[in-house]
Amino acid sequence: MEKLKQAIVEQGVVVSDQVLKLDALLNHQVDPALTMEMGKQFAERFRDDGVTRVVTVESSGIAVAFATAYELGVPLVFARRKKTLLAEPDMLCERVPSFTKGIVTDILISREFISPDDRILFIDDIIANGDAARGLVKIIERSGATLVGAGIVVEKCFQLGANALREQGVRLESLAKIASLEGGDIIFAD
Ligand code: G4P
Ligand code: NA
Ligand code: NA
Repeated sequence: MEKLKQAIVEQGVVVSDQVLKLDALLNHQVDPALTMEMGKQFAERFRDDGVTRVVTVESSGIAVAFATAYELGVPLVFARRKKTLLAEPDMLCERVPSFTKGIVTDILISREFISPDDRILFIDDIIANGDAARGLVKIIERSGATLVGAGIVVEKCFQLGANALREQGVRLESLAKIASLEGGDIIFAD
């Protein structure tokens, strides 16, 4: 997606060889028009897959997941992140480590909003190691719903998350693939 790549080049800040700060377009501020365009792209790619719900994890995935759900005309469900003290029987829960934040969180979705006859499209902003995505895929599996695929705005190809999911059989589509951030340069894979 050319407009997205342009926004990444103009507004992204390379923090290290591993991390690209995208606060200006994904993680702190959002461009509504660009975000709706991303939603259209994902909706187009998964239009014929009978998606019944779009699912993301709070918080940065919500805007693009909303745009996608709007285009597909289906509800958006966002998994909550919280510390769970008690196991709640009506909640599906997975514990997820976050390397960048150095913490462990629980992601939860109520069984009220995910059912065995659902066909789920998972949407997220960035995939790095893919821990959050893997946790969400486990929740979807345990719900009995079908995962039709994953749409990710920015795929960091030099980390393992995206390809690990593909190897697991998940159809993963990304809008911008970043091959390298070495030396402060943003190099796209396509
Ligand atoms: P993972 O989600 O792919 O497993 O990666 P990891 O655990 O390393 O990342 C934890 C959080 O950091 C995720 O946000 C992920 O999107 C974000 N992240 C990872 N690499 C980058 C990067 O290069 N740039 C930016 N801007 N973010 C990165 P999150 O925990 O889902 O938080 P939120 O943004 O949804 O609140
Ligand atoms: Na994020
Ligand atoms: Na996210």
